[in-house]
Amino acid sequence: MRTIDWVDGAIELVDQTKLPGELVMLRVTTVDELVGAIRRLSVRGAPALGVAGALGVVLAGGDQAAIARLRAARPTAVNLAWGVDRVAAAGDPLKAALRIRDDDLAASRAMGERGAGLLEGDRLRIMTICNTGGLAAVERGTALSVVQTLHERARLAEVLALETRPLLQGARLTTWELARMGAPHRLVIDSAGPYLLARGGVDAVLIGADRIAANGDTANKIGSYALALGAERAGVPFIVVAPESTIDQAAPSGDHIAIEDRAADEVLTIGGVRLAPDGTDALNPAFDVTPHDLITAIVTERRVIRP
Ligand code: MRU
Repeated sequence: MRTIDWVDGAIELVDQTKLPGELVMLRVTTVDELVGAIRRLSVRGAPALGVAGALGVVLAGGDQAAIARLRAARPTAVNLAWGVDRVAAAGDPLKAALRIRDDDLAASRAMGERGAGLLEGDRLRIMTICNTGGLAAVERGTALSVVQTLHERARLAEVLALETRPLLQGARLTTWELARMGAPHRLVIDSAGPYLLARGGVDAVLIGADRIAANGDTANKIGSYALALGAERAGVPFIVVAPESTIDQAAPSGDHIAIEDRAADEVLTIGGVRLAPDGTDALNPAFDVTPHDLITAIVTERRVIRP
């Protein structure tokens, strides 16, 4: 199943806000519909945003204001701006966008192979955060592509998936994908991650990335930094899996990465039910930055970088 594709002159994408309850496809015919889908996370995950940006430029049909709105729909994942800029500069936008879609498929498979080759052992217990599977790309994904490859080779003992508050990409999406691939897994609350690393029994932490600065500092879903600190203390490899398009050479370090702050309501309510007393405000950074010295390796479709 493709998470996002170009079908009969429009973008078709899995509406990820409806999962795991319903698998619903959205047909998107205008840039403003696409911007809305990106903002409410119907389509999300850095590689999928790259493909959405690329295909969105085709929908824009040369409307520069629409292209600018699309490019700015979410700030942290550099793939969105990367996909938009590549296609906006191309002579044949549809051809360029379809090339980005196809390259993403090949990159996911290559990252899976390279990541699985980097890990030693054949009964591996992997911890991960957010959703980095096929739903975050076109198919297979990044960190979860490594998991899938391990599982296909009978080298996976278990995945510990962090819930990923507040929007629960781990609880809703990663568990759904792991169940579909038949991979053993358990869900854990975010704050249990560092403790479970200290307690032992996790062989590696695998995460994706939204933007990697030139020095290797990595922006990813909020909670990644805490996992990296816990992994270092416990002596567990902390591995980032991301396509080359996630590396932003224009950002010298993590200090130059814009971190998206999202609406307070995402923290204050769950499934429409208010958690905190009226009058309580909330701070909701969607991402954090893991400094490069806490990262064991960055695996891309082309290489292994040791920051
Ligand atoms: O807010 P989201 O769901 O778009 O955040 C996604 C992540 O943080 C992923 O880990 C990242 O994009 C890598 S996806 C392969």
